[in-house]
Amino acid sequence: MKNFEYKNPVKIIFGKGTIPKVAGEIPENSRVLMIYGGGSIKRNGVYDQVKNALKNFELFEFGGIEANPHYETCIKAMEVVKANNIDFLLSVGGGSVIDATKFIAAGALYEGEDPWDFFTQRFVIEPKAAIPLGAVLTLPATGSEMNWNSVVSRVSTQEKLAFGSPLVMPQFSVLDPECVFSLPDRQVANGVVDAFVHVMEQYLTYPVNSPLQDRFAEGILHTLIEEGPKVLANRNDYDSAANFMWSATMALNGLIALGVPSDWATHMIGHELTAFHGIDHARTLAIVLPGMMNIKRHNKKDKILQYGERIWGINQGTDDERIDKTIDKTVAFFKSLGVPCTLPEYDVPAETIQKIKERFKTRGSKLGENADIDYNQVEEILTDRL
Ligand code: NZQ
Ligand code: ZN
Repeated sequence: MKNFEYKNPVKIIFGKGTIPKVAGEIPENSRVLMIYGGGSIKRNGVYDQVKNALKNFELFEFGGIEANPHYETCIKAMEVVKANNIDFLLSVGGGSVIDATKFIAAGALYEGEDPWDFFTQRFVIEPKAAIPLGAVLTLPATGSEMNWNSVVSRVSTQEKLAFGSPLVMPQFSVLDPECVFSLPDRQVANGVVDAFVHVMEQYLTYPVNSPLQDRFAEGILHTLIEEGPKVLANRNDYDSAANFMWSATMALNGLIALGVPSDWATHMIGHELTAFHGIDHARTLAIVLPGMMNIKRHNKKDKILQYGERIWGINQGTDDERIDKTIDKTVAFFKSLGVPCTLPEYDVPAETIQKIKERFKTRGSKLGENADIDYNQVEEILTDRL
């Protein structure tokens, strides 16, 4: 196991009927900006619950954060923050709203010219300050409620990039599984796939003798495989919704990454598919991951075999046969949730592969746990999905 340090200060408030507790978590006399998306919270009652809970606060609102939140919209929200001396941000929504809130929190206090620097100059320019924020999570998927990442899209340049900072970790996140009841099938499926692939990014690398992290990871995968279909079949099954929600948070709150290598190449390539074609985040992962497993089958052999055996019970045949079966099982699981896994099913033409290849060539980035996936391998991985 590698050395590590771990601190996750996000307070989690989990369970039915917990949304009113936000009032006790926000400092008294705060000027609060409630940030939300396209209106789902007005239809499912979450908006009213939050408004009622915060009636003793000076409360401002900023709605209209898009799925795959836009930089341009976040900049407008930063202006609202500055104009109204906001000193607390409450994010009410899915990963997009939470990610946008993180960017707004740091961007509003940025002294440089353009806070897009956080994304383009990642690891060089980092936020030095951020407005404190909290979250009410309405969609289990990203883990953004308990981590420091933010992914934002810039429409004008068709870029989708990430930044991270401990300064933008929520002070608290309220996880009420009843929010799942109003999710459409597509978002439930997306949430299961996104959480599943988050685990894979931190698990499907190479062995470093970390049996506890491996079993945490496998525990989350098993739970998603068992509970995801139950949530899809019966949206009002509270217990399954609760297990799904907690699995998604645990998949990306840093715990399973401790002391082990991480990959994240599937995400990096997937973000380009969203940037060029607007495909839902999770669906891009369902496309890329099988290609990643196939093309990197030698580097990832030990962990793919372990995953195949422990998750899907595959223990017969040569290594290559077992790897093939394991990829098939993974694809079959995604498809059973209604998530297609190839590029043509999303009308992505072969030319897009060339555009993505060019992007990675220009950036000079090498992806994966061994930093050995260059633009040529990105092309191979995507071509595998045609
Ligand atoms: O905008 P509204 O009207 O709220 O509707 C949303 C949106 O249309 C709807 N929704 C959310 N909660 C609902 C609901 N509809 C009914 N009932 C509810 N309870 O669902 C749609 C999708 O929401 P979104 O927030 O976009 O989904 P998700 O949580 O999957 O977030 C995706 C974004 O997170 C980023 C992705 O790249 C993408 O931009 N990620 C963030 C990560 C992080 N911060 O750590 C990691 C991930 O890998 C990911 O990259
Ligand atoms: Zn993801």
